[in-house]
Amino acid sequence: CGIVAYVGEREAAPVIIKGLKRLEYRGYDSAGIALAKNGELNVYKKQGKVADLENFAAGEDLGGNIGIGHTRWATHGEPNDVNAHPHTDSTSSLAMIHNGIIENYDSLKKDLLGKGHIFKSETDSEVFLHFIEDIRNREGCSLVEAVRLALSKVVGAYAIVLMDKDNPGQLIAARKGSPLVIGVGENEFFLASDATPIVEYTNEVVYLNDQEIAVINDGELNIRNIEDIPLTPYIQTLDMELEAIEKGGFEHFMLKEIFEQPKSIADCMRGRLKAETGHLVLGGIREYAHKLDKAERIIIVACGTSWHAGLVAEYIFEDWCRIPVEVEYASEFRYRNPIINEGDIVIAISQSGETADTLAAIELAKSKGAIIFGVCNVVGSSIARLTHEGAYTHAGPEIGVASTKAFTAQLTVLGMMALKLGLRRGTLKESKFHELLVELESIPAKVEKALKSDSLIKKISEKFKDSKNFLYLGRGYNFPVALEGALKLKEISYIHAEGYPAAEMKHGPIALIDEEMPVVFIATQDSSYEKIVSNIQEVKARKGKVIAIVTEGDEIIPQMADYTIEVPATTEELMPLVSVIPLQLLSYHIAVMRDCNVDQPRNLAKSVTVE
Ligand code: G6P
Repeated sequence: CGIVAYVGEREAAPVIIKGLKRLEYRGYDSAGIALAKNGELNVYKKQGKVADLENFAAGEDLGGNIGIGHTRWATHGEPNDVNAHPHTDSTSSLAMIHNGIIENYDSLKKDLLGKGHIFKSETDSEVFLHFIEDIRNREGCSLVEAVRLALSKVVGAYAIVLMDKDNPGQLIAARKGSPLVIGVGENEFFLASDATPIVEYTNEVVYLNDQEIAVINDGELNIRNIEDIPLTPYIQTLDMELEAIEKGGFEHFMLKEIFEQPKSIADCMRGRLKAETGHLVLGGIREYAHKLDKAERIIIVACGTSWHAGLVAEYIFEDWCRIPVEVEYASEFRYRNPIINEGDIVIAISQSGETADTLAAIELAKSKGAIIFGVCNVVGSSIARLTHEGAYTHAGPEIGVASTKAFTAQLTVLGMMALKLGLRRGTLKESKFHELLVELESIPAKVEKALKSDSLIKKISEKFKDSKNFLYLGRGYNFPVALEGALKLKEISYIHAEGYPAAEMKHGPIALIDEEMPVVFIATQDSSYEKIVSNIQEVKARKGKVIAIVTEGDEIIPQMADYTIEVPATTEELMPLVSVIPLQLLSYHIAVMRDCNVDQPRNLAKSVTVE
């Protein structure tokens, strides 16, 4: 979900609405806004997109210099007008927006119902606000104190912002597990789930930490922790350009982000890698580098596309560094009493740096003495701050819900980490190290070339846009790419797709193959090339339709496949950086042709801050 709030001298509504649009990628089931003016609280909520809210509220009183707004990704209660945020208390003087999930809301709700509270929605968030109201009435304390006391009793994750119509200079915010950034302007403050709604007004920000409460009162920001100890706000300067969060002429953010990859991969290497001089330095990994050197095993935790990057990393680290690697879904790892020994290395991969399951997995591993390295895209995000050390991917803000440029940047960072480590451990020969540096440096140009197949891919998409199922097959380094290709397609076009190691096809998926079944082979020239050629023949023998991603100049596969898409040659370890590009484009074009909302696919959220 996305949070935006404003207090200052401007009209709050336009700032909030614009901010909500920027955050829409985080949740878009419903949206709402609350504004205070002349002792009145005006709340407007609407199922659907921020534009629906705008239409709904057009002509209504949207005045006021203070307000809070929200875009929702439903957890408790279906997406409808009533369940949308902001929620109000019994007297409709308090309004609150909430991201996250309150786990003990059921018992709190029973208790409050017993006290005569009436709830309009089915949400845990409304219960949370009534709980605060109840404490304030019971204790006769200030609203800030009531918030603090409530926070010590709720179980779960939250980022909240509250306002009181009777105190129109005050916003109260708090976080635990869900992100919250405060933009500090001149006599004005902006609060948001991430910096994108803030960047056009100010580049001075304060990242609220877990268990902290921020109070803005008559132009002053104070932060205290949940134990009521005052803290000094740490103001940081944002390094984000406005252009980075706008579409810049592309029809969708996803397409823009796909085409940005030559640049984002280069940005990721900038200042870190120079093949000519053999320079490779990841500035974020210093103090704990020796722990990595001595690692006896590496555990990678991640979700979604980041987990796929982890799978590629598994092959790379094992190959170059000779360290056993386990790749875990963060959600499984955290709940299964995993074996973690003191000094084990955990690498957490997360674009947003906020994924709840990944965060929890890190906390668990940390509590058992593991050393955690983060590979995050969002600077200052929770995971980036929780890990011991790490390396940012520097891909720039990724707005499209389906991850593209973050994935290739993750592969780039993980590749650089493994190269460095392999060299330090002596498992990677210097000559090979240098070869790989040169090759990695050439990847942006190869990605650029791979993007040139766009119009061909569009034509192929036309043929398959009405397919009901897709299979994606790859071997070795291209196996995780097959998984990623299938994920991209299902995420944005709602076509059922499965990725498989090509050899496993014989153990199940082959039963699905008939003339209706498109099979995408990622069959570039590598050590398993001959094997995958046989797999293609097996599919053709059963009349499946083959779309093959091949290395430039391949003369064998084009004779068998129905369609071939060429990508430039590179070493097999780095091939995923290139071979994933046509798959991103394929899913994009098919989704557009099916009239799907590419940037905001149904039911998905960019940043999953609930478990
Ligand atoms: C969501 C997004 C995916 C992303 C996954 C993990 O499901 O829709 O695109 O891969 O979360 O997110 P993270 O921010 O941790 O990489």
